[in-house]
Amino acid sequence: MKTTKKITRKPSDAAPTAPARAFAARRGGCYHVPMHASTTLAQHRLRAGMVGLGMIFDETYRPLFEQLHAEGLYRRDFGLVEVALTAVASRTGSRAERLQQSAGGRLGAFQSFTEPNAVGQLLPHVDAVCIATPDDRHFEPARQALTAGKHVLIEKPCVLRVQELDELQALARQHNVLAKVVYHKLADPDHKKLRTHYVDGNLKHVNHGYCSLLEPKSISGGQFAEWIKGRNPGTYVACHYIKLIDFTFGPAWKLSRITATGQRGLVGAATGPTWDSVQLQMVYTHPDQREAAFDIHTSWVTPDNFPGYVEQEVQFRFDNGVWNSHQRKRGVELCIEGKTPHQFKETPNHHYNGTFVEPWGERSQRGYGVEILRKFFEEVAFVEHGGPPHQRAQRLEDMRALTYNDVSADRNTVAVVQALEAILARHAAGQPGSMVEVNAPEGGLVLRVPGRPEPEVLCPQRV
Ligand SMILES: NC(=O)c1ccc[n+]([C@@H]2O[C@H](COP(=O)([O-])OP(=O)(O)OC[C@H]3O[C@@H](n4cnc5c(N)ncnc54)[C@H](O)[C@@H]3O)[C@@H](O)[C@H]2O)c1
Repeated sequence: MKTTKKITRKPSDAAPTAPARAFAARRGGCYHVPMHASTTLAQHRLRAGMVGLGMIFDETYRPLFEQLHAEGLYRRDFGLVEVALTAVASRTGSRAERLQQSAGGRLGAFQSFTEPNAVGQLLPHVDAVCIATPDDRHFEPARQALTAGKHVLIEKPCVLRVQELDELQALARQHNVLAKVVYHKLADPDHKKLRTHYVDGNLKHVNHGYCSLLEPKSISGGQFAEWIKGRNPGTYVACHYIKLIDFTFGPAWKLSRITATGQRGLVGAATGPTWDSVQLQMVYTHPDQREAAFDIHTSWVTPDNFPGYVEQEVQFRFDNGVWNSHQRKRGVELCIEGKTPHQFKETPNHHYNGTFVEPWGERSQRGYGVEILRKFFEEVAFVEHGGPPHQRAQRLEDMRALTYNDVSADRNTVAVVQALEAILARHAAGQPGSMVEVNAPEGGLVLRVPGRPEPEVLCPQRV
């Protein structure tokens, strides 16, 4: 019978030996160390910091940090790297306290820093910082972290203005670190297949599309109630689809125009600045001058007992084909008395994130929501430990060239978000129906209001 020999080395030991690499290779290149094992081969360590400990931290970052604590991060090029959550920054520290209590040894020890200057206190203790605060509070912690020479991962949308994006990108270059943003829908197998068909030329020349993401009232009334005033559901979820479209069908085309409207009256006053639902249209121009138009509808006032929980749909039309996908119609429908739809979703997306008893007995939490975060740590590990120090600059450039998550490739998405916010602000101020032109003679993002001859330049730099 074949047996697996346990290999035990001290952290200070030199590079993983041939037996260790063979051990990893036998496991299909995936170095899995059971949680109870004392096996320690890592010669490198990455210290991670977390800013914001809300819903998305619980759903995706926490399971990843638990896995990394148990198993480390292995790839043939950088070997075994320990990745540890060493510090968290939050406003009051109460969530950090609860996390420490509930972690039960699955996370390791971490320091908790609170306001004032929570991020500033956290920075000396980490090599990379993940930012999962509400989206109008991404820029400042990202700016601080990059200035301190830390790699940064920001939840979508990374920032709300192209000018902020440019500043983060410049800081990342100046301090020789990565600045990345999380769009987990790019890792959804259906969206990967859509892009694969487009890259392979099976689907040709996208003409138009429609995407929707409708969230329940509990999101606007409970989960996000603290920061929702003056905000809209488009900025933080339409950006998923803006990025999907821009990444899947670009980069040869040019973003041309953005329009938007929406409804008010449920979450806030009918004439106020807080939006219930938003309809956005963005128009791109292909190199052959044909235009492609995409409508993205978002809402956070769907009744809580709607069976979809979050209703998501994507449709694209091409010169030679159609792609329709629907979150609720692609998979499982579940009903358990007294448990669905609240404790368990009725149409769960187990590809995004699910907790499982694996066939081999292990309990796990996995899905593309976790996988996409792991990629960031692989990219950081590759930059820092994927080869000799004198080749670090090249490795950094290689990782920056990954357009799915580098901030340098996020210009169009941030430009659309900036335009959307400006159009809705004008609407709330009594001037509906504006249009933002991209790379107009007056500037990179130019807001034109019906009946007003003078445009407003939202961003002078070209997008
Ligand atoms: N990738 C996704 O699909 C996905 C899903 C949900 C949310 N998000 C994004 O993640 C971010 C957070 O969303 P969430 O759902 O976790 O929101 P949330 O409201 O549940 O959590 C936000 C957390 O940030 C904390 N916070 C607020 N201001 C802070 C500050 N100045 N310093 C430190 N902490 C602060 C809050 O106390 C809270 O714990 C948003 O940008 C959102 O768009 C992404």
